[in-house]
This record gives sequence, C-alpha cells and structure tokens, in this order.
Amino acid sequence: MANNAQETADGTSKPMDEVPKLEDVPIVLVVNGRSRPLRVQPRTTLAEALRTSLDLTGTKVACNHGACSACTVWLDDLPVAACTILAIEVDSRHITTIEGLAPANDLHPVQKAFIEHDAVQCGFCTPGLVMSCAALLARNRHPSVEDVETAISGHLCRCGTYPHVMRAMLALAAVEAEQK
Ligand code: FES
Ligand code: FES
Repeated sequence: MANNAQETADGTSKPMDEVPKLEDVPIVLVVNGRSRPLRVQPRTTLAEALRTSLDLTGTKVACNHGACSACTVWLDDLPVAACTILAIEVDSRHITTIEGLAPANDLHPVQKAFIEHDAVQCGFCTPGLVMSCAALLARNRHPSVEDVETAISGHLCRCGTYPHVMRAMLALAAVEAEQK
C-alpha cells in the first residue's frame, strides 16, 4: 500500500485525505525525559507523532511499514521501529529519539565514531542506525562483528555504508577494551 493510502474496513485502500477523520485522542508521551502532552488521531504512529506533533524530525520515515528501520527510536532503552507502533499504545514508557541521545551540544560516542569513520552518506538511514548501535553499546561495551551485524540487520542503507558502520563500531569496541 502506498504510504499516503489507508486500508479501509472493506479491504480497499483510499488516499489518506479521503479516509474519515476520527476524534483526536489526548495523550502524554515521555520523550527525551520530558512529558509532552498532545492530541493525535487513533491511527497516528509514534513516528508521525514525533515528527509532526513534536517537531522531532531526526526520526526518519522511509518505508512506513516496519521494513527498513529508518524510524528507530528507543522505547524503555530497546530499539523499536516507531512507524509500527501507534502513539496511543506507548502509554508511560520512555521514548528516546536521536535528539535526546546525547546531552545538548554534544554527540554520543556512536555519532562521533560515525563521523570519524565516514559512516554517513545521504544520512537518511543514519539516525536509526545510530540508535540501534548505541543501544547495542549500552548493553555490550565490546561488541563483536556478529553482534554489530545482528544489531544493524534490520536497517536498509541504500548508500551502502555498512562497512563504515562496522568499522566505527569495532573502533569503539577497541577503545572500550583499552580503557578497561
Ligand atoms: S520507516 Fe519505519 S521501518 Fe521503515
Ligand atoms: S546513508 Fe544514505 S541510506 Fe544510508
């Protein structure tokens, strides 16, 4: 189904602007440590709510159906595809987006390593990849090649940055090993 279409009860699809609007639902999302009250349609995905209601556009949407991981955020420290979750389902769980990964005016070590190892081309997949790599590093300071491969296996990068991502992550793992 096209991203701007919605499946209706009779199994056909209609452009989004022709799908009847439902009543907005008031919710509170806890994003990057702040409670953010907002009103959303029941069908609004978490990715859409972050981008359009909260202006957190670092979370990218590419496929919009769980196939590319571009929209990865953390839900209670676990990476999830934000386009596969409805905003109204999130409840009080803590959401971390790429904007909240590092303190203001600083970069997370994964972001620094991506820059150093040239792991960014068009950048569309990059926030999602960074979120998954940072989640891996938070639970495993010395990831192996296999660990990194598993962590990024759901991410599609059309620019083919995978070898650079791998180098960035293994360099971080080596630094962590030295500091031990
Ligand atoms: S945009 Fe969410 S998985 Fe592709
Ligand atoms: S850097 Fe372009 S899609 Fe990954």
